[in-house]
Amino acid sequence: MKLILASALSLSVLAGPALADDFKLLPEGPGRDVTVRVCAQCHSPEIAAQQSLDAAGWKALVDQMANNGANGTDAEFDTITKYLTVAFPAK
Ligand code: HEC
Repeated sequence: MKLILASALSLSVLAGPALADDFKLLPEGPGRDVTVRVCAQCHSPEIAAQQSLDAAGWKALVDQMANNGANGTDAEFDTITKYLTVAFPAK
């Protein structure tokens, strides 16, 4: 019984990184799901956590990513900008 439990546990540890919600650097909040979906198309969405920007700064960065080819609607980019402004505000 103990053996079965241990292998089930290690399986779930192995499966962990495949979960959509494994981006620990991204705090919970409105818009997080959209941010992960749109911003993970080219690189880890967690690189956003390296920045601390005000609303204008995040808008400029999100615009830059849209120019890079990020795939989203204007409403989605707006939601992402708001999420990032709250999650990683200017220091
Ligand atoms: C179409 C591909 C693509 C998508 C989608 C994308 N990015 Fe990027 N991102 C890039 C590329 C290419 C770079 C490196 C060149 C640059 O800075 O433009 C980059 C760099 C970055 C950087 C580092 C910039 C720096 O100056 O160090 C951040 C932060 C970033 N992206 C955030 C985001 C966010 C937030 C989103 C979602 C809105 C996003 N990216 C979506 C392609 C993309």
